[in-house]
Amino acid sequence: MSITHNHQLTNTIKSGEILLEAHHVKKIYEAEGKQPRGVRPPTVLEDINIQIASGEFVALLGPSGSGKSTLLRILAGLLRPTEGEVLLKGVPQHGPNPHVAIVFQTFALFPWLTVLQNVELGLQAQELTRTQRLKRALAAIDTIGLDGFEDAYPKELSGGMRQRVGFARALVVEPELLFMDEPFSALDVLTAANLRKELLNLWHARKIPTKAIVMVTHNIDEAVSMADRILVLGADPGHVRVELQGLPLEKRDAKYDEHTRMVDVIYRIMTSPHTDIEELLPKELLQPQTGKLAPAKPVRPYQSLPHAGIGDITGLIELVHANGGRADLYQLGRDLQLEADDLLPLVEATDLLDLADPQEGDLILTETGKRFAEADVLTEKQIFRQQASERVTMLRQILHDLEEAPDHIVPEERYIDQLKQHFSDDEAWTQLETIIDWGRYAEVFSYVEDRGIFRLEDPETLAEE
Ligand SMILES: Nc1ncnc2c1ncn2[C@@H]1O[C@H](COP(=O)(O)OP(=O)(O)OP(=O)(O)O)[C@@H](O)[C@H]1O
Ligand SMILES: [Mg+2]
Repeated sequence: MSITHNHQLTNTIKSGEILLEAHHVKKIYEAEGKQPRGVRPPTVLEDINIQIASGEFVALLGPSGSGKSTLLRILAGLLRPTEGEVLLKGVPQHGPNPHVAIVFQTFALFPWLTVLQNVELGLQAQELTRTQRLKRALAAIDTIGLDGFEDAYPKELSGGMRQRVGFARALVVEPELLFMDEPFSALDVLTAANLRKELLNLWHARKIPTKAIVMVTHNIDEAVSMADRILVLGADPGHVRVELQGLPLEKRDAKYDEHTRMVDVIYRIMTSPHTDIEELLPKELLQPQTGKLAPAKPVRPYQSLPHAGIGDITGLIELVHANGGRADLYQLGRDLQLEADDLLPLVEATDLLDLADPQEGDLILTETGKRFAEADVLTEKQIFRQQASERVTMLRQILHDLEEAPDHIVPEERYIDQLKQHFSDDEAWTQLETIIDWGRYAEVFSYVEDRGIFRLEDPETLAEE
């Protein structure tokens, strides 16, 4: 397996022509209308530099919210970067790139149009005669295996067939670049496997005119099985953490050790968001470095809690404990049937609370974590409360405010307003929900939902502590 590790992404491009490149792309979604004073929308992407060359299949992996879809839309010219630019064969891009077609996770097909008519819609923007349009649409339908379904309506089709219509609608424009945003994730396992295989066959046999494919996915195995190059994004703000050279074509199958090892490496990278890439890549696989190292990780000005529920956190700790206090992250993910993306917040939470330590791809219980796993429910809550009130800034703040307030009551508004200065509205609420979940469990406070207030759980005992 050859893994190159090059953060500047200029040296490992295949010898193809550069079709598209992003230069120092930064994205902030500016809120519409008036911004409340002091509220800064978060930076979603920071200093993204990537190149897409002819002949490549590139996969974009990264945790939820790391800006993968945003990046895809910027590359397609559907969104303007806040800073930086996208070059189309060297020329700055303005507006939607007509040579790009995108396949989304689920397709908005028009229910009152047939398959053929839905596919023809892809050609709306082009000046073609009625006959040309029909010919092209029928050809695309044929290519993607929808032959015989031309006159069917979407409701008559299975999910897999509907997604084929999505592919046909994208391919009918004969795009130079095909972008896909989690195209297989809404399909059942077998249908997804089938469609993946067919798409790869078309691509490798050059039966589609597309010169490069960029695919966003959550599925590491999918990325390793399909891509020539894999970019792993990190979050807060979204940035390229590492670029990995894909496996040679003949090794792209789960039955090969190389495949398993590569999935394992990426899994470790994704479940250790704060660890240096150097520590995560097996040394023998590191090639001499060519480019510069990635810019230092931006400091987090504000604590961001991982989206992890109490039940899942305790479950994870217990599983590691049952495993002797140390477990391989990749194996853990498999045991829990969690994608890296779902395991990651749990690992982050145990790390933040100092219940466990992610190290070299393993998760190791700390002394406190061990006590936690062995404790009865009451002690477990006590330990959690101790850890959380020491380490979770806002929980500590709420506790402090509650103790100070004469009636030991504080409104949630105070905290949501503060959170909104650092996160998007949605994320601010998610942060608050996590704090409520943790704080309730730890019996730091009770939360009265219909009144939107926090109340001190038991002022008497707290006063004594
Ligand atoms: N139109 C928008 N306005 C404001 N914020 C947005 C908008 N679209 C996305 N965001 C925010 O930008 C961040 C990145 O979102 P994006 O959808 O690009 O991430 P993603 O990596 O594709 O996530 P997922 O894996 O969940 O699809 C998120 O915090 C999201 O809330
Ligand atoms: Mg997305």
